[in-house]
Amino acid sequence: MEEEEKYRKYYEAVNRLLFWVRFLLFAIVILLFYLFIAYKGEGAPKWFQNEEVLITDSVKSPNDSIWQAPDTSAWQNEPNVNELRYGRNLIANTAHYYGPKGTIQHSSNGMNCQNCHLDAGTKAFGNNYGAVYSTYPKFRERSGKMESIPKRINDCFMRSLNGQAIDSNGKEMKAMVAYMKWLGKDVKKGERPKGAGLKELNFLNRAASPENGKTLFAIKCVSCHQANGAGKKNSDSASFQYPPLWGINSYNRGAGLHRIIRFTSFIKYNMPQGATFKNPQLSDEEAWDIAAFVNSQERPNMDLSHDWPNLKTKPIDYPYGPYADKFTEQAHKYGPFEKLKKK
Ligand code: HEC
Ligand code: HEC
Repeated sequence: MEEEEKYRKYYEAVNRLLFWVRFLLFAIVILLFYLFIAYKGEGAPKWFQNEEVLITDSVKSPNDSIWQAPDTSAWQNEPNVNELRYGRNLIANTAHYYGPKGTIQHSSNGMNCQNCHLDAGTKAFGNNYGAVYSTYPKFRERSGKMESIPKRINDCFMRSLNGQAIDSNGKEMKAMVAYMKWLGKDVKKGERPKGAGLKELNFLNRAASPENGKTLFAIKCVSCHQANGAGKKNSDSASFQYPPLWGINSYNRGAGLHRIIRFTSFIKYNMPQGATFKNPQLSDEEAWDIAAFVNSQERPNMDLSHDWPNLKTKPIDYPYGPYADKFTEQAHKYGPFEKLKKK
């Protein structure tokens, strides 16, 4: 009897203990769950963070949200609405005005500014104009001079459109500048909002591979840009449905996109057509290798002898010497870039 009583007490004690153990485990699980939901901030491991937190821009941003262009339906009230409309048109349909069959003059390669400055320069990380009005005029190392917006626009005419500069005081230039001013009207002078321009990606720890890129290009890009990289003309044959990536109608070797870091930044978050920074369709490796392949193809020439007068400021991915460092053109063209990074 006494024996039995002892066992019963023993049994109850074990039961109580088990109850508390279970309770504690349960509490821990609840706590972990709560932490999982609540803690996705800056300090958390990368795989654990919200996408928004992962978007890091090297430049200071006035607030946390991604830049958005003002709504064009609101420009009805602007006194210069017609000028704004004209400016936007010139950017979206540049070939119509300046292409091989242009109505103003035949001085560009048939591409539109919008082919590279997507949605008329309004798409987040789509090479938009969000920071143009707030940061120009500025000193640029490529020319070694102070540059105004018209000078910068003419740079793209001469390099990206492989053409001639347009009249800096003409009505077309004024309209494009007015449009860029309107786009940047809510950005404080000197500031570069998050989402402006392009978004760079991490370097690979190897050189980018044109051979891999060739295979990937055939799978992911050929359907639109064609196997010879020449793109596809519209039926009016005056502009492109799919713009060229190399060859005589493409941007020339002095253009910004010819630098591999720019090119990867552009395609990673914008290509194939439909990709966005929130929904990229290429892995980092794919972007680098495809860029290496496209950058290995022929494109129009340009006199680059006056660029980068101060060699020390030449970008690490500039594919043409001379350089201030000991690395070869090959290394500057394909990387690996970590060791080329300026100290
Ligand atoms: C082949 C692609 C391409 C085309 C076409 C092109 N651009 Fe550009 N543009 C670029 C690249 C790349 C940059 C450099 C972006 C950077 O530095 O982050 C740039 C930079 C600019 C900038 C400076 C942006 C900034 O934030 O500093 C302006 C302004 C500009 N382009 C205007 C134009 C205009 C206007 C046209 C048409 C006449 C045009 N671009 C056509 C690729 C292009
Ligand atoms: C579904 C069709 C399509 C596919 C696939 C596609 N692109 Fe494009 N790409 C376009 C269009 C259209 C534009 C011009 C965008 C505009 O004008 O709004 C463009 C523009 C570009 C530009 C800037 C303009 C130029 O011609 O230099 C580059 C660079 C580019 N694409 C690279 C690529 C690469 C690399 C791939 C493969 C990873 C790719 N694209 C896949 C349709 C496509």
